[in-house]
Amino acid sequence: MRDVAIGIDIGGSGIKAAFVDVASGELMTERVRLATPHPATPAAVAATVAEVYAQVRSSAPELAPVAVGATFPAVVRSGVTLSAANVDAAWIGDRAEERFSEALGTPLSLLNDADAAGMAEIGFGVARDVRGVVLVLTLGTGIGSALVVDGTLVPNTELGHLSFRGHDSVEDWVSDRARRAEGLSWKRWGKRLEAYLKHLTVLFSPELIVLGGGVSRRFEDKIAPRLELRTPVTAAALRNEAGIVGVAWHASRTART
Ligand code: BGC
Repeated sequence: MRDVAIGIDIGGSGIKAAFVDVASGELMTERVRLATPHPATPAAVAATVAEVYAQVRSSAPELAPVAVGATFPAVVRSGVTLSAANVDAAWIGDRAEERFSEALGTPLSLLNDADAAGMAEIGFGVARDVRGVVLVLTLGTGIGSALVVDGTLVPNTELGHLSFRGHDSVEDWVSDRARRAEGLSWKRWGKRLEAYLKHLTVLFSPELIVLGGGVSRRFEDKIAPRLELRTPVTAAALRNEAGIVGVAWHASRTART
């Protein structure tokens, strides 16, 4: 029997989930996706997560998940959501892991979304087998970060909220949202990204930087040619599925220990 887990990716616009083969990192079922409710209050989101979970379970009733994991776009410490940069303020201090577990009727482990994407790259993507410090950044509405040392995650690094070049949160200056909102050319945005990445390399001396999030689709043609860094920078391998795969894998590892 293959080890399977369910990964649920809670985002600002959609909540997506599937069964994941946690040995290979492959999705075993079609992704189920429902729109994130608005306002995205804890109770409303929990109800939608439960519905997505029920649909995934019924899409493959023969599969028995060893664990269920969900991502969340905020700081998650001991199952409690502690920040709300791009989500409803009601999440601050919410015992979200417990709330979701109750809604689903099964234990669920909750992880920051970028941390999940980082785990996916470590387990199955471009950072597989990379020793030392790996930094994974997701460039989207905000900037998420995952810091992994010898395969072990240091959770909740929140490097998108560094204060940089006069901005309280660097994500307001370098995220993909900033690029679009300010109508920046790839060249101008690339300069910002390069400055930010250089700063991170000074702080962390990583072996590798991995860029994920929607904008990483443009890595080869628009981003890589403009970055001059001594540290290798590469695009994430898992893209859309990173959250689902990473959190399912992480949950299955947590369940075993
Ligand atoms: C949040 C992070 C999250 C990132 C990407 C940031 O604004 O603070 O927790 O990982 O956005 O969603």
